[in-house]
Amino acid sequence: MTVTAREIHLKSRPEGLPSRENFELVERPLAAPQEGQILVRNLWMSVDPYMRGRMNDRKSYIPPFQLGEALEGGAIGRVTESRDERFQSGDLVSHFAGWRDQAVVDAAGTRKIDADKVPAQAYLGVLGMPGLTAYAGLTRIAEPKARETIFVSAAAGAVGAVVCQVAKLRGCRVVGSAGSQDKIDWLLQEAGVDAVINYKTVENLQAALAEACPDGIDIYFDNVGGDHLDAALALANEGARFVLCGMIGQYNAGSELPAVHNLFQAVGKRIKLQGMIVRDHFDLLPEFTREMSQWIAGGQITWRETVVEGLENAPEAFIGLFRGDNTGKMLVALDKS
Ligand SMILES: NC(=O)c1ccc[n+]([C@@H]2O[C@H](COP(=O)([O-])OP(=O)(O)OC[C@H]3O[C@@H](n4cnc5c(N)ncnc54)[C@H](OP(=O)(O)O)[C@@H]3O)[C@@H](O)[C@H]2O)c1
Repeated sequence: MTVTAREIHLKSRPEGLPSRENFELVERPLAAPQEGQILVRNLWMSVDPYMRGRMNDRKSYIPPFQLGEALEGGAIGRVTESRDERFQSGDLVSHFAGWRDQAVVDAAGTRKIDADKVPAQAYLGVLGMPGLTAYAGLTRIAEPKARETIFVSAAAGAVGAVVCQVAKLRGCRVVGSAGSQDKIDWLLQEAGVDAVINYKTVENLQAALAEACPDGIDIYFDNVGGDHLDAALALANEGARFVLCGMIGQYNAGSELPAVHNLFQAVGKRIKLQGMIVRDHFDLLPEFTREMSQWIAGGQITWRETVVEGLENAPEAFIGLFRGDNTGKMLVALDKS
């Protein structure tokens, strides 16, 4: 029997903030799985800020999405047919053929997941790519020490919220920035963050940060770039470490990129600025999974997620990342019938 998949394709390349018109819902018959492949029905899919870069026709660390083809990204699904001995129908798996309700995927790039102790979608968030990004950036690049001050931008997001909590577990004083009072309340009251700045309402970000960090900044975990990076450079202590994880403030900026004025601070203060791409740190996956699972079981890590229902609304979920619609991981729940 031929299986028909519903897929979200890239219809046109966005200029500035993407709109629904850049995306198209397409129905397409799937070829039957071949030896070494499995057919998966997706339950959850992830939308992530980095996907914006793949929508540009530009060479980068990951190839651009192609017009008229399905987008891709992290997803959780159930195997409905297997032509690989490692998988059986009914297995819950994590794979990379998101943005569609069903897909034939190579078994080799697919991971079985265990949803006994955590909900399946946690493997797209706290136990998945964003969690590993936070863990690798903080533990491997920033190497935090107890009593150091860390500043985390987009602190209530999928990566940021994990960075904040792991830094607390390492004994740091954690200061975050976020764009709404609801996010700030959650960070302070549930995630254990010491101080949070609402970057949308403060008059002067650097002055607010100086007040929140009386002993300066030892680590800056950058998810935003621009004015956040500038303020952190101005307030950094000697020997500070800056993890350049993402710069969401400029993903839709086109040629009008926000300027960074304080980079010279890095010279006198001997600041280490290091960019990171999570896939360079996949070797940490077993250690990260073990440690994160223990923290979750012990109630030491908490998380939130924002769920948008339905594949047809995945573009809106993605666009919402740039409006700050999400607290914690932004997820799309697909039809579970
Ligand atoms: N290097 C890597 O391997 C890697 C891997 C994963 C993620 N990342 C990067 O990490 C960052 C966070 O990713 P995520 O998946 O955890 O997303 P996220 O933080 O869950 O979602 C994005 C958040 O960014 C904030 N934001 C959006 N536009 C902004 C702007 N113009 N200025 C300031 N804040 C803005 C919004 O929160 P507010 O309400 O607070 O504005 C929004 O909720 C992104 O820069 C992403 O590209 C990098």
